[in-house]
Amino acid sequence: MSAAPRADSGKITVPDIASRKQHSPAGLSEAQSVSKSKITCLTAYDYPTARLLNDAGVDILLVGDSLGMTVLGYDSTLPVTLDDMIHHTRAVRRGTRHALVVADMPYGSFHISLEESVRNAVRLVKEGGAEAVKVEGGERRIELIARLVEAEIPVMGHVGLTPQSINALGGFHVQGKTSDAARQVERDARAVEAAGAFAVVLESMPRDLAARITEKLRIPTIGIGAGPDCDGQVLVIHDLLGYGTGRTPKFVRQYANLSAEITRAVTAYCDDVRSGSFPSNAESYHSAAEMRDTPHAQPQPAGHRR
Ligand code: KIV
Repeated sequence: MSAAPRADSGKITVPDIASRKQHSPAGLSEAQSVSKSKITCLTAYDYPTARLLNDAGVDILLVGDSLGMTVLGYDSTLPVTLDDMIHHTRAVRRGTRHALVVADMPYGSFHISLEESVRNAVRLVKEGGAEAVKVEGGERRIELIARLVEAEIPVMGHVGLTPQSINALGGFHVQGKTSDAARQVERDARAVEAAGAFAVVLESMPRDLAARITEKLRIPTIGIGAGPDCDGQVLVIHDLLGYGTGRTPKFVRQYANLSAEITRAVTAYCDDVRSGSFPSNAESYHSAAEMRDTPHAQPQPAGHRR
């Protein structure tokens, strides 16, 4: 595996991502079409992770509202607040030099009125340092996406399985499996593009549907559980690292088993503390030689102090 090519000081911007659409527009000869590397995107929720992912060459760090489940311990993304998102986005932004930082608009932050939604997105940019926001939903979000773009806030769309709709969908199920459902997902993706989004996440859908959408859109598609034909891929970092998650979905490739490694390290630490082998003499501070044998002066009762 190789990191995406980029100049060492090159900050990745929204136009850079938009220009990474894979397929050549119809009519362009093979010689004219430049081969582009696929977009890499991972979630990040804190400063050290952001630094590591940034330095490894990830193109987009997504401060996903999945943080509700991965780091806050909720059983869905619904309880995540705008303040939670701002807090984590700030930390990620501090650890990021090159990657594009995109923050999720959490459930409830764009459902009341357009005015309030724009105000909330502005807070993610101004206070959190987000360079773009992600909004779940397709046709229903046309007006919102257009308003955000008008307010100079780049938008990443998100269609297919949208975890904020878990109550309406009845669970985390693959979307677009019937022809009617597939047509709706396609309409959603087109709507997001027409409204001005610079990219769109396609989540949990059949590979052929994601490939068709990718072929038809001019903006890049970033897949998660949507097969290999998208213009880029995103995963939740905890799934990729095998860190603290329970059952992982079929589409996850786990590149490490941090849970096992953390359990091993912490168990060894507890054993060493209990047996007295930690800390060792070498892991302790020592007084200067002349102090070592000098008994420390005992404090005298208050009445005897001179
Ligand atoms: O919240 C999140 O992490 C996401 C990704 C899974 C796309 O929306």
